[in-house]
Amino acid sequence: MSNKMNPLNLDVKAPYISYVWAEDKEGLIGRDNDLPWSLPGEMKHFVEVTTGGVVVMGRKTYEGIPNPPLKNRINIIMTRNENFEAEGSVICHSKKEVLDYLQKKEIEKPIHVIGGTTLFELFMDDVSVLYRTIIDEVFEGDTYMPEIDYKDFHCINHADGVEDAENKHPHRFYLYERKNPIPLFE
Ligand SMILES: NC(=O)c1ccc[n+]([C@@H]2O[C@H](COP(=O)([O-])OP(=O)(O)OC[C@H]3O[C@@H](n4cnc5c(N)ncnc54)[C@H](OP(=O)(O)O)[C@@H]3O)[C@@H](O)[C@H]2O)c1
Repeated sequence: MSNKMNPLNLDVKAPYISYVWAEDKEGLIGRDNDLPWSLPGEMKHFVEVTTGGVVVMGRKTYEGIPNPPLKNRINIIMTRNENFEAEGSVICHSKKEVLDYLQKKEIEKPIHVIGGTTLFELFMDDVSVLYRTIIDEVFEGDTYMPEIDYKDFHCINHADGVEDAENKHPHRFYLYERKNPIPLFE
């Protein structure tokens, strides 16, 4: 991650909710429960942003992760299935259960909602920070980012991703903060 993307530039203090995702020029984020592109530099950025924090994901996104849980992060999986189990992860069945868990554990880390669409919709009124990657191409797929009201946010940093033999798609990282950040537990 470029130093320009340093989250220390944020005004909001943890715990706060962030979104972390990559989208193409048309807001596409997924295909067949996978990513529509291969971009190791973007994965590295994702790891750098989320390591040390909490990651909250939908059950489908969880099932697309190669070797779960994600290391050095508290993994929270959302499902309505009361019988769902996943080693090394916390299972929650509603947004209230997620927030109650975080409050009870007195978590003071960033809480990164990492998708998919259903979770990005669910936390839309709670999110204070956006880590958005835009890939400057159009891909095929089936899952899109929900609409975000960017006028409520300001972009505080951006940086170009490196293009090389393994990262053939031009992409740019953006960091936004809500103009009036939302305190999580008030
Ligand atoms: N480009 C990116 O940055 C990015 C990031 C993340 C994901 N993705 C892609 O997005 C796609 C998956 O997204 P998706 O929207 O289809 O699925 P998803 O959000 O990952 O998972 C949906 C599931 O989450 C559970 N869930 C959702 N809302 C809930 C609630 N209010 N309470 C309890 N459980 C709830 C349900 O699980 P149950 O059915 O088990 O009840 C639901 O079926 C994949 O293609 C993935 O690769 C892309």
